[in-house]
Amino acid sequence: MVSADLLVTSAPAAEAQQRAHGDRSRLTKLPFAHPTLLAPLEGVSHPAFRQLLAEGGGIGCVCTEFVRVTQTPLSPAVLRREVVFVPGTPLSVQVMGNLVSQMAEAAEAVALLGADVVDINLGCPVPKVVKKGVGAAMLKDLDLLHEVLAAMRARVPGLLSAKIRAGFDDKSHVLAIGDAVQAAGADYIVVHPRRRADFYAGTADWRIIGMLKAHLRIPVVGNGDCWYAADVQRMRRETGCDGVRLGRPALRNPWIFEQAADIAAGRTPRHPCGDEVVALVDTIIARYRAAFGYEGAVLGKLKEWCAYLLRAVPEAPTLSPSGALVGGSARAAVLRPADVEGVRAGVAAVFGGRPSTTLDLGVGGDLGLERSGSVDAPEPEPSAVTRYVGPRGP
Ligand SMILES: Cc1cc2nc3c(=O)[nH]c(=O)nc-3n(C[C@H](O)[C@H](O)[C@H](O)COP(=O)(O)O)c2cc1C
Repeated sequence: MVSADLLVTSAPAAEAQQRAHGDRSRLTKLPFAHPTLLAPLEGVSHPAFRQLLAEGGGIGCVCTEFVRVTQTPLSPAVLRREVVFVPGTPLSVQVMGNLVSQMAEAAEAVALLGADVVDINLGCPVPKVVKKGVGAAMLKDLDLLHEVLAAMRARVPGLLSAKIRAGFDDKSHVLAIGDAVQAAGADYIVVHPRRRADFYAGTADWRIIGMLKAHLRIPVVGNGDCWYAADVQRMRRETGCDGVRLGRPALRNPWIFEQAADIAAGRTPRHPCGDEVVALVDTIIARYRAAFGYEGAVLGKLKEWCAYLLRAVPEAPTLSPSGALVGGSARAAVLRPADVEGVRAGVAAVFGGRPSTTLDLGVGGDLGLERSGSVDAPEPEPSAVTRYVGPRGP
């Protein structure tokens, strides 16, 4: 856990504020069978992807990519495309926007279709999104954030969650952001502890997760740079968070959820070998062909996924004992081909026959190709914390 002296808390003020707003949050812990959740990934998190990952087991909840909410109500086509369930795994549908009544309406619409969780995106850092005042831009206006979320709360009978970053330009408001989310009645909060200004630079500062957990009463889900299955437990242990949401690590190692569940259950987790990666890619191709119907879409999405799978291959361009290509030439072999069959052949050349010991897919990161987050971040301490004092000021 993060030590209490790191925190500049406002507990009495927060309690008074929660009484003033009525304590609408009902959860004290996450209601999912597994604490490891699949993060929203725009352009990636389509139903076939969610289904494929969920089949491996160990996922508490899958999430859609963000659904942009504007003046126009969400069309039935968009709702049909996004609100697609994986049998047996709860579905979180993420919405993004800043228009109070439209967001409330959209939240109600997805809740009525049976979404287990409605999630609001308060973290997207992309300039064209931020320019419109949505995503991470909402971290700059806590009154608006509160107003939108409270309106959604009023229309969502089930679970409501909010995904935040550590702040927009600085981290000193992160507890105030958490206060606003909690006061508006969200059931849990997910934090990716980088500022919007960081995009994906540096390593996620897990101390922020610990600070929020120590400060808030609603469950806190940590997210960011949890690259190895063993890091899931480490993040929970070090920060006290209730759950862990995985994005890019799930693309790099799609077995990570199963491995984390095995560790939690005291089972020996498996360490996939190269042939398992090849078999997975065959499954991806078959499923995506069925889902998308045209090769262009399959090729783009396959390459995006394979770029992450390649991160488990040591960078140095050498030949493995099995004669497979690794390193720079491996990337070219997989990502240069102009058709799906070519990518598949590249994957077979790079991964086929490779023993698991030569791939960084073990639970503890034996090859150490990724740098996971930590509560020992070398960055300066987040400074004094400003407080959220309620809608439109005290
Ligand atoms: C390609 C891509 C698309 C993303 N799309 C979304 C999104 O739609 N909604 C969202 O809240 N976060 C989105 N994110 C952020 C991730 O959910 C996550 O917060 C971030 O990648 C850090 O977690 P990780 O280290 O586990 O990947 C996206 C990230 C990537 C890399």
